Amino acid sequence: MPRIYLDNAATSFPKPESVYVAVDHYQRHVGAAVGRGVYRASLDVTAIVNRCRSKLAELLGAESPERIVFTCNATDSLNLALHGLLGPGDHVVTSTIEHNSVLRPLCKMRERMGIKVTSVQADGTGQVDPNDFRKAITQRTKLVALMHASNVTGGIQPIAEVGEMARAAGALILVDAAQTAGHVPIDLRMLPVDLLACAGHKGLLGPLGTGVLYIRPGVESRLASLRQGGTGTRSEDDRQPETLPDKYESGNHNAPGLVGLEASVAWLLEQGVASLAAHERSLTRQLWDGLCGTAGLTLFGPPPGDDRATGNRVGVVSLSIDEFDPQDVATILDQRFGIEVRAGLHCAPGVHKALGTLEHGGTVRLSVGPFTTAEHIDAVLAAVREIAGSVA
Ligand code: ALA
Repeated sequence: MPRIYLDNAATSFPKPESVYVAVDHYQRHVGAAVGRGVYRASLDVTAIVNRCRSKLAELLGAESPERIVFTCNATDSLNLALHGLLGPGDHVVTSTIEHNSVLRPLCKMRERMGIKVTSVQADGTGQVDPNDFRKAITQRTKLVALMHASNVTGGIQPIAEVGEMARAAGALILVDAAQTAGHVPIDLRMLPVDLLACAGHKGLLGPLGTGVLYIRPGVESRLASLRQGGTGTRSEDDRQPETLPDKYESGNHNAPGLVGLEASVAWLLEQGVASLAAHERSLTRQLWDGLCGTAGLTLFGPPPGDDRATGNRVGVVSLSIDEFDPQDVATILDQRFGIEVRAGLHCAPGVHKALGTLEHGGTVRLSVGPFTTAEHIDAVLAAVREIAGSVA
């Protein structure tokens, strides 16, 4: 039975062939640490990691490569941003649809140091309204944290409008781009965003264990480092360097991961994110239209809108089938049809509450990637309809 992977929102698979080649070459023939030696292999891997940073800056429209800080994953990036910025009594505005990687750090800081959190509610499709942010942001607000697209519904949130509101109030805005980086074009030159967190292994198509935090110039003076240690620079000084990216990158880098990420970002630049986004929009439309109206099946989130430049959603579709536990649907899809999806709450309980799926064990989530084909979607449509039809 051929394998159909539809869990790209968790991590992308497969990767571009060049990623496998680059990681294999590094592991077998290079193997040296980044930024620590003057011998050929160390210089080579250091140059690759520098190129990775430059390509990410180009892809995201960052001012310069050092604005890109490497982390372990999106959760690590979000923790650095939240714990690095917030102190006792600070006010944060966020939304109920955020992932636990935002909700849990905020909960911890509320309990530990008394930060104040205002959470904007979502509507029944899991979308937030910028007007609710307008009411929640005050002159006391230090940070606004909002996800770019929901990892449950795929719905794109109004980050530009909310970013303008944050700016007007003198607050910073942190965007969780875990589900959008590499999936839709992001141009930080045009967006009022101060910090942008994403994984390297989802839409950016690199290996697991890679993440990115973009830091707008000037924000670093307000953002503490969470880890201190060796950077391979200014080693005579017992203080952590204040310069980027060293301030936030103590300890050995994940060299195999970053070598793979360099290859995947090169691939993305070559293909063009806009063209990959168009492919994913077309698959999402096929999935949505093919399932809409199926008896006993509910689709969640905003319906795909007009085929504008970036659309209103990414390629993540959540559904439920009457009488079925979502985990059972995922198991049947895997065991009978070879289709791999993620079911449950997706570490984002608030959006399930908004959708009304919290008490029913969440949803079945299907998420496409650049290597998903229309034939894959045809096979998924037939399988899901058969499961839904089995209860009619
Ligand atoms: N946050 C990732 C997901 O939604 C892991 O699956």
